[in-house]
Amino acid sequence: MVFRPSLLALASVSLVLGACSGDDPDPNDGFTDAEIAKMQDFSPAPTAINDTTNKFADNEDAAMLGHRLFFDAGYSGPIVVGDDGSNGGLGAVDETGKVSCRSCHLGDWLIDTRSQPNGTSLAIDWFFRNAPTLANVATYETQFGWVGFNDNLWGKSLIPAEFVMGTTRTGIVRYLYANYQADFDAIFDTPLDSGLDPASPDIDTRFPADASPIAMNDSWAMMADADKEIVNEAYANFGKALAAYQRKLITGDSDFDRYVAGDREAMSASAKRGLKLFIGKAACDGCHKGPTFSDEKFHVTGVEQIGDHVLGAPDYDPGRNGAIPVYLGWDFNTAGKYNDDPSINRTTGVAEDPALLGAFRTKGLRNVAMTGPYMHTGHLNTLREVVEFYNEGGAASGFAGTKDPLMVPLNLTETEIDDIVAFLEALTGDNIPGEWLVDPT
Ligand code: HEC
Ligand code: HEC
Repeated sequence: MVFRPSLLALASVSLVLGACSGDDPDPNDGFTDAEIAKMQDFSPAPTAINDTTNKFADNEDAAMLGHRLFFDAGYSGPIVVGDDGSNGGLGAVDETGKVSCRSCHLGDWLIDTRSQPNGTSLAIDWFFRNAPTLANVATYETQFGWVGFNDNLWGKSLIPAEFVMGTTRTGIVRYLYANYQADFDAIFDTPLDSGLDPASPDIDTRFPADASPIAMNDSWAMMADADKEIVNEAYANFGKALAAYQRKLITGDSDFDRYVAGDREAMSASAKRGLKLFIGKAACDGCHKGPTFSDEKFHVTGVEQIGDHVLGAPDYDPGRNGAIPVYLGWDFNTAGKYNDDPSINRTTGVAEDPALLGAFRTKGLRNVAMTGPYMHTGHLNTLREVVEFYNEGGAASGFAGTKDPLMVPLNLTETEIDDIVAFLEALTGDNIPGEWLVDPT
C-alpha cells in the first residue's frame, strides 16, 4: 500500500484518505499534517549534489582513478607515531608509504575502526578529531569536515594529503607522474609536465620532493611561480579525481524513507514516536535539517573535550573559528583559480567571529547507527549516550565557546530516549555498491 500521495494531499489540504485505506482508523498514522510536512523535508534520500566546481565530478575515468588513489598508500610520508602493539599504528617510525585514505575511512561505512583509543584517528601521527564517515559525503553542498576546512569536496580531499599523510604537494605530483601519468593525462586538460619525469635532470631543483606551502622549509618558496602553478594544477586535479570517486559512495533508501514513501510497516512504533520527538519536543530539527539531516551550519553544542588526543584545557578545540584562517588561506577553496565554476564563491562574507569559537558543523545523521563513535571527539560510543547528552542540554563545561540557545535540557523520559535512538537507527540506508569498496590497486 502506498500512502505518499495521500500524505501529500493531507499535508496541503487536510483531506480524508483515499479509497485504499478507507478502513484505517488513522490515515495519518498518528502524525499531524504539520508533522507530515516536516518529515517530508528529510526524504527521499539525497544523491550526490550537482558539483559544478569540479568539471570532472561525473567523469567515470576520474572516479576510477580516484578509487585507486584512495587506496594507494604509496604517496604517504614518514610515520611519526609508530605501531606500539596496541594503538593500531600503521608501521614503524620513519617508514613511508604506509598511509592511504582508506587507512582511516575503512569498511562498508568508511570510518576508522583501527586506531586505539578509537575516538580520534592515528595516521602518521595522532589527529585531534574523530574520522567521519565518507558515506554520502558528496551529498553535502557547502561544508566539509567538522569545522568546514573547505567549501567543496575536491578541495577538502587535498587537506588530508598534506596534513595527516605526511606527504608534500610536490611529492604527490611527482608520484602521480611516476605512477599514473597515462591515466591522468587521458582525463585532465593539462598533461603532467615533462619536468616531473624522474629522469628529468633538474627535477630536484625545479620540483623539490619536500616542497609544500605548509612544510617547515623554504623549498616551496624557492620554486619558480610557473612551477608552483604546474604543481597546484595537477594537485587540484588529484583532488578532483578523489572527489569523483567519493561521489560513488552514496547509500540508498533507509527504513525512514520507505516509511515517508508510504510503507507504514517500515518503521517500528518506537521509531515513529522517536520521529515525532525529533521534530517536536526534542527539536533536533533546529539544526539537523533536509535530506542530509544537516543545516551545514556551525553550532556550539557543548561537546566536552574528552579523550587522549583531543585539544584539552584551557583553550580546548576552537572549532569553526580556528578553521577560518586555514580555509580562507587555502588555494583550493571556491575563491581560488582551480574552481571550475567562477559563479560560485563560498568564501564571501566568511570571517573570524567569536560566536564561532567552539562551533562545529551539524553532522548529517544518515547511517549514523553504523558510524560511531560520535562527535568530533569520538568520545560518545553509543547513540543512547548522544541522546542523553542532548537531554542534558550538552555538557556544562570542558569546551570552548558559548552554547547555542537550543542546547537546553529536554526532560525526555527513558522511553523517549530509546524512541529517538530507534528513529536514528531507522536512518541506515541500503549499502554503497560493493565494487567501490574493494581495493583496486
Ligand atoms: C587520520 C586518518 C585519515 C586519513 C589518512 C584520511 N582522513 Fe579523511 N578525515 C579524517 C579526519 C579525522 C577527518 C575530520 C577532520 C576535521 O574535520 O577536522 C576527515 C575528514 C574527511 C572528509 C570530510 C568528511 C565530511 O564529513 O565532510 C573528507 C572528504 C575526507 N576526509 C577525505 C579523505 C581523503 C580523500 C583522504 C586521502 C587523501 C583522507 N580523507 C585521508 C581522517 C583521515
Ligand atoms: C544546536 C544545533 C543542534 C541541535 C539542536 C541538535 N544537534 Fe545533533 N549535532 C549538532 C552538531 C553541531 C553536531 C556535531 C557536534 C560535535 O561533534 O561537536 C551534532 C552531532 C550529532 C550526532 C553525532 C553524529 C556523528 O556522526 O558523530 C548525533 C547522533 C546527533 N547530533 C543527533 C541529534 C539529536 C537526536 C538531536 C535532538 C535530540 C540533536 N542532534 C540536536 C547540532 C545540533
